[in-house]
Amino acid sequence: MIYRMLKPLIFRLDPERAHDLTSAALALAGRMPYVPGVLQALFSASDPILATTCAGLSFANPIGIAAGFDKRAMLIGPLGALGFGHVEIGTVTPRPQSGNPRPRMFRLPEDQALINRLGFNSPGMLVTAQQLRQYRQQRPARGKQSVPPIVGVNIGKNRDTSIEQATEDYLAAFIALAPLADYIAVNISSPNTPGLRKLHERAALEQLVMALAETNRRLAQPRPLFLKISPDETEAQIETVVEVGLAAGFAGFIATNTTIAREGLHHPQASQIGGLSGLPLAAKARRTLQQIAALTKGRIPLIAVGGIADAQEAYARIRAGASLVQIYTALVYQGPGIAGMLAHGLASILRRDGFNTLSEAIGADC
Ligand code: FNR
Repeated sequence: MIYRMLKPLIFRLDPERAHDLTSAALALAGRMPYVPGVLQALFSASDPILATTCAGLSFANPIGIAAGFDKRAMLIGPLGALGFGHVEIGTVTPRPQSGNPRPRMFRLPEDQALINRLGFNSPGMLVTAQQLRQYRQQRPARGKQSVPPIVGVNIGKNRDTSIEQATEDYLAAFIALAPLADYIAVNISSPNTPGLRKLHERAALEQLVMALAETNRRLAQPRPLFLKISPDETEAQIETVVEVGLAAGFAGFIATNTTIAREGLHHPQASQIGGLSGLPLAAKARRTLQQIAALTKGRIPLIAVGGIADAQEAYARIRAGASLVQIYTALVYQGPGIAGMLAHGLASILRRDGFNTLSEAIGADC
């Protein structure tokens, strides 16, 4: 209700400025005594039917915040208090970079969508690693009362690193950040870093994922590796990506990133260059997920993201084969209660359909 009142004011601000202000408010709330507890009481999304294990990690619920919202690892605690079962931070690049010139983020309210061309604005791996270290020192231990979110770290390459040198960038970010992460997401699918999506091609991808998997195996505790895929690839390309990812021993796939397609949009900002997210992405992201699910046949976990805005759609993705779902744009349009709303809705749909646990519903339509 409070968000519904504040939204017209927030929406008067430039979208990136609004994001920076709400992020600052969340970070502040996270540092104030008692406030995280109050947020948790208000937005709690824990229900035993939603607790799930994926890639060997225990999640309080399957709803996560997608990469891009917390690029600096400053908001993990507060996002957990808002009910998110996991937080994927990043994309983090090895060296700091400021991204594309502003304005670079656009709202399309009629379409319940966003277009962004941020271009991996990142404080770099060293600052992010320090931030993660600080978070891990302060986070409460996992227990009955408190279940801090699972933390994924999404890694990418710097803009001025050539595609031929990309593996070195990903390896540097991996080495710096993997020991501080619960899982690593390898982002080859942002449309805003020129050439990045060439990493969906076999030779380049093989080199990248083999090197990462090999380095991962040498860690005292290897991390689950996920590959984040674009919704704009052909079926043949998706098949190649899945084959290469599976052969390298990746834990799973994240489907999908934003799209460069522009179909059926109404808002004048629709012609802005960048990646489109939100409702108009839903059908494409769902189709990509279904294709990957058909190829992997339940052998490895999938994370669904792209246009999920209500519990019904989250449920549809789970039935289509997703173990976890993530959102970003729906948080902008529906406010901080979204994780709790999705979790409560999902729990009641699962019970309505006779499931005792979330895992029984995963892939039910496959
Ligand atoms: C993103 N997304 C994104 N993804 C990623 O892997 N690394 C990133 O840095 C970002 N940055 C980013 C910024 C902004 C402003 C948006 C809106 C999105 C993509 C995001 O994680 C997700 O895949 C898409 O937004 C689709 O989900 P939604 O927004 O439709 O729920």
